[in-house]
Amino acid sequence: MDLLLCTYLIGSLSLLNALLVTGTSDSHMFDNNTLALNIILHSKPSSIFVYTDTDNLTQGSSLLALKGYPKNVVYNRVPKSASTTLRYLLRDQAASRGFTILNKEIYVPFLLPIDIQREVASELESAKAPALYERHMYFINFDDFQKPQPVYINVVRDPIQQVISAYYYSRETCINEQRCYFNTTFVNETLDECVRSRSASECVSASQGVSPILPFFCGNLVACEENKTFALQQAKQNIIDYYTVIGIVEELYNFLFVLEHMMPKYFANICRTYMANGMRKENVRSKKTKNSEPTETTKTLLRAALADEYALYEFIKRRFNIQFQQVLQNLAI
Ligand SMILES: *[C@@H]1O[C@H](CO)[C@@H](O)[C@H](O)[C@H]1NC(C)=O
Ligand SMILES: *[C@@H]1O[C@H](CO)[C@@H](O)[C@H](O)[C@H]1NC(C)=O
Ligand SMILES: *[C@@H]1O[C@H](CO)[C@@H](O)[C@H](O)[C@H]1NC(C)=O
Ligand SMILES: *[C@@H]1O[C@H](CO)[C@@H](O)[C@H](O)[C@H]1NC(C)=O
Ligand SMILES: *[C@@H]1O[C@H](CO)[C@@H](O)[C@H](O)[C@H]1NC(C)=O
Repeated sequence: MDLLLCTYLIGSLSLLNALLVTGTSDSHMFDNNTLALNIILHSKPSSIFVYTDTDNLTQGSSLLALKGYPKNVVYNRVPKSASTTLRYLLRDQAASRGFTILNKEIYVPFLLPIDIQREVASELESAKAPALYERHMYFINFDDFQKPQPVYINVVRDPIQQVISAYYYSRETCINEQRCYFNTTFVNETLDECVRSRSASECVSASQGVSPILPFFCGNLVACEENKTFALQQAKQNIIDYYTVIGIVEELYNFLFVLEHMMPKYFANICRTYMANGMRKENVRSKKTKNSEPTETTKTLLRAALADEYALYEFIKRRFNIQFQQVLQNLAI
């Protein structure tokens, strides 16, 4: 089995990984959830994290119920957050599970005017069900168009890592594909130079080709881009009300594991496909920019500029961990 793949297994499943790597050369072992569960449940309790619901996210009930009608799934992909890996995985799933996939090769804008939002809602409604729609776009509330709410899913990444990736990726697309979404005077600047000569908050903004994550969950109101306090509040509310699963890139296997458990019609076997194929190499930083890891000083400034993004990320991470735990408990019954 490919040892590189193992690095993507974390949390409880890294334990499983350690056990299986020594015992077998068959990566397909990983897709046997019963086996995974047995190993996790019978290992020492100290090696299992127990998450408490500090946000009262569950409100005393389960996070395993679908929010929305499973006739349609919407993945409003956040840029530079495993979205290419997921695109290929979802295409494989559509082929093997026989659902419609609407892959949108539209990259900008993320903020859609009301008439385009309505078109998205109509397109999805008239697609042959079941159908999964994926696109880089901000959250659309289907209630606004009297359409059934789809099952929303998404994945987020540690905000500093997402910003580093987005910052350099926007420069590479500008140089290599002549698609430039920022002032090209700055095309050769490293993130360190940007933060030194301007400000951290400018360097993590659209003016530098970086797309903040809050509006992807907040929606298409101008305030979602302009008022972070509002955006954070609204994003959390939409997540509670409309998002069935939001994973984190750092625990991508667990995300797929939860999807597979909650919506087998779409996602059965997806863990196995992922383990067989691993992360996609497309769109990862080239050698030239790969080494431009920002200094600790830069990271400290970025972290402060991204305080609201971190608040959302941590919120999503806590919620996901509780959900993952509920899946494991559910399987144990
Ligand atoms: C998965 O593992 C369990 C426990 O070892 C075993 O009983 C079961 O037959 C396995 N299922 C598959 C599909 O291999
Ligand atoms: C959590 O939410 C439920 C349902 O709204 C409520 O009954 C309960 O008191 C809340 N618990 C805390 C600790 O806030
Ligand atoms: C790009 O930035 C340079 C340097 O700050 C400035 O002089 C120029 O006007 C900017 N161009 C645009 C199109 O904003
Ligand atoms: C960026 O670097 C390239 C290659 O070194 C150079 O040709 C180009 O003029 C530079 N652009 C700016 C705006 O500095
Ligand atoms: C930003 O949103 C918050 C929360 O909705 C609100 O209290 C505040 O007045 C808004 N700020 C501006 C500048 O509009």
